Amino acid sequence: MSTTPPPPALPLADPAGRHAVLLCSSAELVEAGRAHVFDLLEFGRPTRAFALRFEGRVVAYLNRCAHVPAEMDWRPGEFLDDTRRYILCSMHGAVYTPQDGVCVGGPCPGRRLTGLTVREEQGQVYWYPSGHFAAAFAD
Ligand code: FES
Repeated sequence: MSTTPPPPALPLADPAGRHAVLLCSSAELVEAGRAHVFDLLEFGRPTRAFALRFEGRVVAYLNRCAHVPAEMDWRPGEFLDDTRRYILCSMHGAVYTPQDGVCVGGPCPGRRLTGLTVREEQGQVYWYPSGHFAAAFAD
């Protein structure tokens, strides 16, 4: 007699004990496509972040340019340039590499976007709040 094993447990906490926040399904994030934009708290204040898939991996950053603290998407969720190879700030054209968030062109070369820890598990994308970042929940 065979039995179906139970599904593995969801990643409710990472090895450091941080609890995961479900962002979206993996399928929502197509390669070099539109980002999933989400709200969070930084030192208790609302701010915005985004997650997108690049070279197969999901990366996430605050939606805040390293040049001036402004949101960067030229349309909600659209962060990549025409080549789909770089994150482009719509304000003054800062260009960032999606893999590490480093500015490689425009007014702030060498500066970096603020990265967030994300992970994919069982077809879902999770964010792990840490430090001065916390989840923002609607009332
Ligand atoms: S605010 Fe992004 S390039 Fe100036």
